[in-house]
Amino acid sequence: MSAPNKSYDPVEVEALKPEEIARVRDEALAAIAAAADLDALREVKAAHAGDRSPLALANREIGALPPHAKADAGKRVGQARGQVNQALKARQEALEAERDARVLVEEAVDVSLPYDRRPAGARHPITTLSERIEDIFVAMGYEVAEGPEVEAEWFNFDALNFPPDHPAREMQDTFFVQGPRGADSGVVLRTHTSPVQVRSMIDREPPIYVICPGRTFRTDELDATHTPVFSQVELLAIDEGLTMADLKGTLDHMVRALFGEGMSTRLRPAFFPFTEPSAEMDMLCFACRGASVGNPDNPCRTCSSEGWIELGGCGMVNPRVLTACGVDPERYSGFAFGFGIERMLMFRHNVADMRDMVEGDVRFTRPFGMEI
Ligand code: PHE
Repeated sequence: MSAPNKSYDPVEVEALKPEEIARVRDEALAAIAAAADLDALREVKAAHAGDRSPLALANREIGALPPHAKADAGKRVGQARGQVNQALKARQEALEAERDARVLVEEAVDVSLPYDRRPAGARHPITTLSERIEDIFVAMGYEVAEGPEVEAEWFNFDALNFPPDHPAREMQDTFFVQGPRGADSGVVLRTHTSPVQVRSMIDREPPIYVICPGRTFRTDELDATHTPVFSQVELLAIDEGLTMADLKGTLDHMVRALFGEGMSTRLRPAFFPFTEPSAEMDMLCFACRGASVGNPDNPCRTCSSEGWIELGGCGMVNPRVLTACGVDPERYSGFAFGFGIERMLMFRHNVADMRDMVEGDVRFTRPFGMEI
């Protein structure tokens, strides 16, 4: 019989010593408690409860123990593994609950919010009013004509019979465009839409019926009633036998189309180099229709009880302009008028301050609605 091997006592396997089991268990429990999220916990689990964890390795040692020692060691390791697994499960549940609570907050969707209400803007009322005016004339057979905003002085002034020394050419009215030769470039920002008259006559053979909307520029300060960038509509008719009666009838038709039946216009003598005779045109006040005139009990704020509102300029196209544009003044005559859309918008919609029209605030444009 061989003597017992004193140098190897299986009961004394290092990994199975109670203190060692307690140490790795406590290490595992501490790591579990310290796992801050589910990913960290997954790593802790592999390290402390996986196949190669100290407790799993200790468990494997049990098989080699003598029978009397197996139960004891098995119980110790089993208890330690049980505690670790329980702690893992508890931490897993706690971390999952934490994650679920966070996801609920972070990914919350308020299903009661309107999902389809994108804030819609609106077309600018200057554009819609200008198009409405164009429509009136397109319906009568007129053609919409456009021209450049940066215009040759010749189109803006010379062809329209402005003498070279006409005050309107001076710096206080006109934006001159700087060229290589300084301000003498011969190029301006158009001060009115009348150069489109000139271009239309040069481009077309009579009869000519055009309506020319567009942006115009003058060196005015921006205030409640002025803006350096504004909009005009210009009308030009060239045909055989046109007279001022045609002009008057056309103007009356326009104000009726814009403001309703019973509206009319009146002409007052005026001067423009490009029309002869020329007139300022007024329209009947659309608010009081003249009823406030001489009637202090019933004053009208729209026309200051004048009964009329000044609209713009008009006249019969000056024969010198016809000649400059290649139209035979012996055969053809024509009429033209032009007015500012901003002013028209002020009357038509009670806009008190022109600055609202240039500031681009949707709170101004939106109440005009989505007129197409
Ligand atoms: N062009 C002129 C202006 O800007 C208006 C006008 C147009 C007058 C056509 C007569 C004929 O004031």
